[in-house]
Amino acid sequence: MQVTFQITRQEPGSAPRVESYLLENVSPGNTILDCLNRLKWEGDGSLSFRKNCRNTICGSCAMRINGRSRLACKENVGQMLASGPETSITGGSPIAPTITIEPLGNLPVIRDLVVDLQPFWDRLEAIHPAVSRSSQLAAADRAWPATASTETRQTPDRRALLEQAGNCIACGACYSECNALMVNPQFVGPQALAKAQRLVDDTRDQAQGDRLTQLGADNSGVWGCTRCMACNEVCPMEVAPLDRISQIKSAILARTAPQQADRPVRHRQTLVEMVREGGWVDERQFALRVVGNGGRDWRGLASLGSLGLRMLVRGKVPLTFERSPGTAEVRSLIDAVRTAAAADQDNAPDSPA
Ligand code: SF4
Ligand code: SF4
Ligand code: FES
Repeated sequence: MQVTFQITRQEPGSAPRVESYLLENVSPGNTILDCLNRLKWEGDGSLSFRKNCRNTICGSCAMRINGRSRLACKENVGQMLASGPETSITGGSPIAPTITIEPLGNLPVIRDLVVDLQPFWDRLEAIHPAVSRSSQLAAADRAWPATASTETRQTPDRRALLEQAGNCIACGACYSECNALMVNPQFVGPQALAKAQRLVDDTRDQAQGDRLTQLGADNSGVWGCTRCMACNEVCPMEVAPLDRISQIKSAILARTAPQQADRPVRHRQTLVEMVREGGWVDERQFALRVVGNGGRDWRGLASLGSLGLRMLVRGKVPLTFERSPGTAEVRSLIDAVRTAAAADQDNAPDSPA
């Protein structure tokens, strides 16, 4: 069959443009990468894209195909035509079914489908992506032959906690689709946070406390995620970065009392506590408890002063608070979730012997 490929092309320093290529003798089982190779080898040698393994291993060939980030060597023409736009009719004649191809999003384009991955690697670097060991223990790790006292043991169950994030091939598809990254350049992004979960749950790592502090400190870490789910939907390796982010959030919330927590953590904790107390949020108290830390943070309280006064003058501050009629039900739901989480914690895999 014939297939039209509409490919977004761009030279350094110029605006992107869309070029159409008609490819003959295409089979539904051909991968998109097979087709790109033919377009380059048989037609336009200037077409630029990355590829390497051709087998969903290296992550090089990620690009946007039919509007969504995917691996070109994983998707085939049949699947893309089934999920893509309808074949158009122009002037009474059907045109060949069409597949659109664009470079990854959230990254600068170098040429055509080749993007500059440096911002992606910089964000990975920011989470210190290696197991952290004291120098003495690290030396013992390297000792050979290993003995029971020098090797680092890990139970199979603990090891299993690292596997899903460990499947990441650093393709950048999640980064490309991340809505938070589009508006918050400080956010480290889904791939770096998935990697961070792998280290937080790694029993060999000795920097868990520092990691959780860094990851929960501001909107560059887990609180910067808007939970849009895009990363889970596009990841070709089922790493499910959003789920990994949720694991880190749970670890952060579990380790910190509200009054000692950073503001983003206190925000989450206070929200849940207030809903548990009154069925909904008592707005008179919320800012005082989160920003003012219940009277402990004078600077925070002072920062609320002028806004609070203006709201008071304009009658925007409710004078009373009435609990929601459904408070008992809401409270029982929150308590049930907490009981289930505690049971999960009790059943969690043991630390290594
Ligand atoms: S769920 Fe969070 S990390 Fe994943 S794409 Fe959306 S904003 Fe980004
Ligand atoms: S988490 Fe998934 S989508 Fe993101 S870089 Fe890794 S393999 Fe690619
Ligand atoms: S070429 Fe390696 S993942 Fe596609």
